[in-house]
Amino acid sequence: MTAAVLAGAPAAQALLGEARRRAAALPVRPHLHLIRVGQDPASLSYVRGKDRQAREAGLRSTVHALPEDVALPALLALLDHLSADPEAHGILVQLPLPPHLPPAAVQAATDPRKDVDGFHPLNVGRLWAGQPGLAPCTALGILALLRHYGQPLSGRSAVVVGRSPIVGRPVAGLLLAADATVTVAHLRTPDLGRVTRDADVLIVAAGQPHLITADMVRPGAAVVDVGIHRLTGPGGAPHLTGDVHPGVAQVAGALTPVPGGVGPMTVAQLLLNTVQAAEAQLG
Ligand code: GUN
Repeated sequence: MTAAVLAGAPAAQALLGEARRRAAALPVRPHLHLIRVGQDPASLSYVRGKDRQAREAGLRSTVHALPEDVALPALLALLDHLSADPEAHGILVQLPLPPHLPPAAVQAATDPRKDVDGFHPLNVGRLWAGQPGLAPCTALGILALLRHYGQPLSGRSAVVVGRSPIVGRPVAGLLLAADATVTVAHLRTPDLGRVTRDADVLIVAAGQPHLITADMVRPGAAVVDVGIHRLTGPGGAPHLTGDVHPGVAQVAGALTPVPGGVGPMTVAQLLLNTVQAAEAQLG
């Protein structure tokens, strides 16, 4: 068997179309504020992509580029200012932050109604209580991708490998809300394959290249690979790969590619979260 490819681009286009339509129906253009600290090349590139796609979807977008040594009170003052500004609908602080800026303090300083990352403790609590709110973009994007390709979740066994606050934990909460039976495993789980072989739907966000091999996957399972790593091939050429070994394609029923699977969904979902936040503030 060769797994069906769950490509992100068509599913992301559908989300972007929805964001564009809903943004156009509002009395003002939703305004996203992106805050970046320092010069981390990956963060620079991610924020540039978010800013460009926001504009393409008909949103307003402002990037705040702060120096690497910005003091915590200065960052919190900017978050206070944007939280109080009725013309700012969505606020995102790009991670990772330099070591002197504790993410928990920064995340708690954003108005939860504008917290388009879904990282504010109130939104985390709402997600786990099964209440409506803003949820993290990659986790929402994974569910949107599975929905786009008609992968059922209700009553199915879903295994999440990884427990980060950005992906593993929130995707587990969303799968539970979608009536899946959810197991969360991680790098300290003994005999990981015994757990992952139980999955009808396997979400892998552990941050370790090729952690999941073909023998760890139930034949026919839907596998979502959230990992992205730059490896050097035998000829010295760099290539991108995920947390899932390519051999899994011979066993799984469906598999997301890396790159081009979950990646495009995250930004599309961020824009949809921004529109949702604007609707709630303007409604
Ligand atoms: N860095 C990597 N992923 C994310 C994300 O989802 N949100 C933010 N703010 N930073 C990130």
